[in-house]
Amino acid sequence: MLEIKGLTIRYGNFLAVNNVSLSIPKGQIIALIGPNGAGKSSVVRAIGGLNVFQSGQISFLNEDLVQTEPYLRIDKGLSIVPEGRGLFPRMSVEENLLMGSYSLKDKGLLDELLNRNFELFPILKERRQQLAGTMSGGQQQMVAVAVGLMSNPKLCIFDEPSLGLAPIVIEQIGDALMSLKKQELTVFLVEQNASLTTRVADQIYVLSAGEIKYHDTPANLLNSKEVLETFLSI
Ligand SMILES: Nc1ncnc2c1ncn2[C@@H]1O[C@H](COP(=O)(O)OP(=O)(O)O)[C@@H](O)[C@H]1O
Ligand SMILES: [Mg+2]
Repeated sequence: MLEIKGLTIRYGNFLAVNNVSLSIPKGQIIALIGPNGAGKSSVVRAIGGLNVFQSGQISFLNEDLVQTEPYLRIDKGLSIVPEGRGLFPRMSVEENLLMGSYSLKDKGLLDELLNRNFELFPILKERRQQLAGTMSGGQQQMVAVAVGLMSNPKLCIFDEPSLGLAPIVIEQIGDALMSLKKQELTVFLVEQNASLTTRVADQIYVLSAGEIKYHDTPANLLNSKEVLETFLSI
């Protein structure tokens, strides 16, 4: 569904992402894991069109994504939930969700998408009138995930959804991702959290200092002492 080939990103002289290639097949949860500063968000921003990159190709649904203006990528079925959530704190949960649906062509889908999100996170239904900024970190992350789904995407990218959350909430986010996979959404999960990614992902790419060091299934990565010691303990 999404293919990245030879992506290289520099900030001035600093090489943040070096020749990264990865493939996100339809219907899978693909994880990109790496420590702080590894270059994960740079890759995400490049997919969103928010980073200029020096070389490489990104294709989505077999089309060169660079040809599509960043603000139109959502129309193609690409949704990104950014690091830090990007909510409107002084708007209600429901208003935030509606903001997520602004690009939706078929407004007839609106109720169905809202209901799907309320099934995924029942607490959001209870709290639909609450201002997003007054909710707990975990609930805000649920709102952010839900906002990302309101455009009815084919691929949804989550940049560090577990950041700062308690283990029990991270587990709920993981459950939600697995139930999205059952609904045939393709997920790109960008994370530092090894237990979340190894639990939910079909394949994991390990990014370190801008380079892909390993690419394998969670089971194989967890069997490798070297990987465990070096990367998955982050
Ligand atoms: N706009 C920028 N200008 C300069 N350096 C940046 C910029 N954005 C990120 N970096 C640097 O690039 C590296 C990768 O950052 P980032 O992609 O945010 O990593 P991650 O998301 O894995 O923490 C870091 O060293 C960071 O300081
Ligand atoms: Mg980041």
